[in-house]
Amino acid sequence: MAVLKASHHFREPIGACVSQDNNSFNTLGQNRRTFLQTTALAAGALTAAGKIGLTVANAADAAGGAGYPALPKLREQPLKASTLATDGISRRTHEEHFKLYQGYVKKSNEVLDKLTAATRDAAKANQAFSEIRELKVELSFALGGVKNHELYFDILGGAGMAPGGKLLDEINRSFGSTAAWADDLKATGIAARGWVWTAWDYDLKRLVNYIGDAQNTYPVWNAIPILGLDVYEHAYYLDFATKRADYIDAFVRNVDWNAVNARYVQATSASPGSLANLEQPVAL
Ligand SMILES: [Fe+2]
Repeated sequence: MAVLKASHHFREPIGACVSQDNNSFNTLGQNRRTFLQTTALAAGALTAAGKIGLTVANAADAAGGAGYPALPKLREQPLKASTLATDGISRRTHEEHFKLYQGYVKKSNEVLDKLTAATRDAAKANQAFSEIRELKVELSFALGGVKNHELYFDILGGAGMAPGGKLLDEINRSFGSTAAWADDLKATGIAARGWVWTAWDYDLKRLVNYIGDAQNTYPVWNAIPILGLDVYEHAYYLDFATKRADYIDAFVRNVDWNAVNARYVQATSASPGSLANLEQPVAL
């Protein structure tokens, strides 16, 4: 029976996931492929597309213990040099933060392994407690931790950049201005317990700053995040103590808008369909 222990680092439970072992995930298969997911923003299953998504090691060929194909394994992504050099958010903060991300990769792989082998016997499934419930709930937390942090680290390192092109046009259409986007992000970030995502919503046909607490809370489907802001204390406390607003200001100053734009282009090139009935349909 898989029972994942939880511990606390500042306010974020990290599932006993801090790992110093960087090599455990580097030997998993020779064939790398990009995990492409274009359907949803789920707080626990944030999407990332194309080369900027999760890299997964090749899934094992052998079927799982219960007869299911083996689930894939994750391979951690390195921190960009520009992210480590972020002005105002220290290298030490990023390095310590990266350890939490590594832990999520490790725990995700552990859960994926166990889930491959878990029983699908309906008689053993139980909403109060059962192996499959425990594994699927904790997968949303661990995998959400991976995807959120890959997004966060990827869209930092811009050092004073500003958005441009069609992304700037869309920010202006959705928020009024870049400054208004930043104001909304800041207020949302102060109101959040863990995460904020600027997401392209396929149904609302606009960018929205969605709020998250843990990485697997408040999922909003049929939207894809193009920017993620981690507001857990571990992301800024060493540099800003309790001054979260100052941290968010520093974050905004260091957004890598090229990375955000790449995600925006990918998001808007996909058309997963619109399920919402808008009173005034938006033509794009
Ligand atoms: Fe974090």
